[in-house]
Amino acid sequence: MFVGIDICSTRKLAHALTRSPFLKEEVFSPAEIAYCEAQPKPQQHYSGRWAAKEACLKAFGLSVLGVELKQIEVVRDAGSRPTLHIHDEDLRQAMNSQAANFTLQVSISHEDEYSVAVVLVLS
Ligand SMILES: CC(C)(COP(=O)(O)OP(=O)(O)OC[C@H]1O[C@@H](n2cnc3c(N)ncnc32)[C@H](O)[C@@H]1OP(=O)(O)O)[C@@H](O)C(=O)NCCC(=O)NCCS
Repeated sequence: MFVGIDICSTRKLAHALTRSPFLKEEVFSPAEIAYCEAQPKPQQHYSGRWAAKEACLKAFGLSVLGVELKQIEVVRDAGSRPTLHIHDEDLRQAMNSQAANFTLQVSISHEDEYSVAVVLVLS
């Protein structure tokens, strides 16, 4: 079992997303964007997802360099717990080399200023 944790400043991420118009589409899937934009405070939910993606990489001991964060997707329907989906085959293989046949658990929380996420890798 491995664990990864990350904290994200909602204000700093919101600033980065405003400054770099393409960043949102580079990091978040269309479904993630649709989910966040449907919430009363979208920036908190982007921040939570950013933390979840980075916590996932940390859990595997992988670097964000060379990884398209969009390939790690937080999926959830309103009212259900979030799940993580890995879309890129190379990334999945790199993860599998650390933890064969892994499954993932993620938990996200946010307050006004920060979001945190914890990811468990079970193998
Ligand atoms: C899970 C629950 C306890 C979330 O509590 P919360 O303190 O409101 O919210 P947090 O910021 O800690 O967590 C939000 C995240 O929890 C996760 N989450 C939501 N429902 C969940 C569930 N049923 N199971 C697991 N995780 C859940 C989501 O990832 C959510 O973030 P997202 O919308 O960006 O995906 C929620 O079901 C609940 O009952 N909320 C009402 C509690 C309340 O009234 N709080 C306000 C007063 S303090």
